[in-house]
Amino acid sequence: MRTTSRHHSFIASTALLLFGTILHQIHAFVPSLRPSHSVYRLYAIQNDDEEQRYQAALAHNKIRTDVKNFLTQRAIQSFIFLLVQCRDPHTVRWLENTYEFRNMESYHGTGAFNLTKWKTWDSILDDMLHQPKDCVIVQAKRRGRGHGGWSANNPYLEERFVEFRIDIDPVSLASRILSVREQIAREWREDLVTLRTANDQILDSYYDMGRAAREDESSSLQEETNVEQLVTPGVDEKQRRVFDRNAMLMLTSTMIFKAFASSPQRQGNFDLLYLLLTQESLHRVLREYRKSGDEREVSYEWLKEFYLSRVSSFFDGHQDYGRADDFLEELLMAPPSTKELSSSRIGFIDPLRIAEDIITMRSVVAEEWQTEIASVPEDHMGLRKKLLSKQMGSSLVEQETKSSLEDEDGVFQ
Ligand SMILES: *[C@@H]1O[C@H](CO)[C@@H](O)[C@H](O)[C@H]1NC(C)=O
Repeated sequence: MRTTSRHHSFIASTALLLFGTILHQIHAFVPSLRPSHSVYRLYAIQNDDEEQRYQAALAHNKIRTDVKNFLTQRAIQSFIFLLVQCRDPHTVRWLENTYEFRNMESYHGTGAFNLTKWKTWDSILDDMLHQPKDCVIVQAKRRGRGHGGWSANNPYLEERFVEFRIDIDPVSLASRILSVREQIAREWREDLVTLRTANDQILDSYYDMGRAAREDESSSLQEETNVEQLVTPGVDEKQRRVFDRNAMLMLTSTMIFKAFASSPQRQGNFDLLYLLLTQESLHRVLREYRKSGDEREVSYEWLKEFYLSRVSSFFDGHQDYGRADDFLEELLMAPPSTKELSSSRIGFIDPLRIAEDIITMRSVVAEEWQTEIASVPEDHMGLRKKLLSKQMGSSLVEQETKSSLEDEDGVFQ
C-alpha cells in the first residue's frame, strides 16, 4: 500500500515537472492571440503557479535521487539484515514500528523512505538520538507440552514461560548504523569507479554487436543454403542482448581479490546504485533538453513520454536486478521516428543519440558522486559529537543517581 501511494506521488510530481514546459509554451502564445490585458494577467499568474510547482517537483526529485539519502537507506537496510542474521528480531521490530518500515531486509529498490518526512540523509539518524530508551519483554516457552522431551499430548504438564528483557537504546543503534554507513560509503567509492568503466564500454559493445549481427545477416544472404542452420534452436530472440552487461561481472571480480569482506548486501547495493545513477542522469538529460528549448524539444517530449511510461516498472519500488541495463536496452532498441509538436513542426527522434547523452551523463554523475561520497566520514562528525554527548550525558546521570544512593547509605558520612 505504502509503496503504491509513494509511486503515485512520485509519478505525479515527475509528470508535473515534465509537463511544465508544454504549458509554458502554450501560455507563451496567448498574449499575441488575445492581447487583452486581463487575460494576459490571468495567464501570467498561472505561469507563476506553474513555475512554483515545477520548482517544487524539481526539489522533490532532487531529494529522491540524492545519493546520500540513498546511502542512509542502504545502511539501515544492511543493519537490519545483520540484526536478522544475529537473531535479534526485537530490535528489527522496534525499527519497523518506529519508522514504518516493512520487509526492509529484502527490499530491493531505491526511495524506500517517506521523503516528505525524512528530507536529508541524517533525518532518521538524528531522530534516533531523540528517541527514549525502550525495552521489550519477550516470553519464551521453557517447559511444557512438546518441549524438553515431553510429549505434545501430555495433559498433566503445566506450561511454563520465561521472560527476557531486551533493552533497545536508539542512540547506540544510530551509532552502529553510522559505522555501517561509513563502510558502504568506502565500497561505493570503488563501485562508482567500476560503474564508470563499465558504462564507458557500453557503446563500443553496442556497436560491435550491431556490426557482428549485420555481418551475420549478409553472410546468411550469400549462402542461402545455410539459412536453416543459422536459426539455432533454443536461442530466444528476446534474450538477445544489444550490449554486454559487464558492470556486475566487474564488481564480482574485484570482490574476489579483496582481503576484507564486503558489507552483506554489496551486490544489491551496487545494482541499485547503478539504477539510481541512471535515473539521476535521465533527470539531468531531461532538464538539459528542456533548457535547450526548440533545439531539443522533440527529444525532450519523446524521452519524457518514454520515461514516464516506464518509471514505475523500472525505477520505483521493489525491482529485479539489472533494471538499469534493461532500461537502456529498451531505449537502444526503440526505432528512430518522427513526432509532431504542439507548434505543428515535425521533429526527428534518434533514440541512439538520446542513449548516448544518458551514458555520457552517467559518467559525469558518477564522478560527482565519488566526490560527494568521499566526504561521508566528515559528514558524520557532527552527528557523532551529538551522539557522544548523549551517551556521556546519560552515563553522568547514572553516576549521579548512584552517588546519591551511596550517600543515603551513609558511605560518605
Ligand atoms: C509521509 O509523511 C508525511 C509527513 O509526515 C505524511 O503526511 C504522509 O502521509 C506520509 N506518506 C506516506 C506515503 O506515508
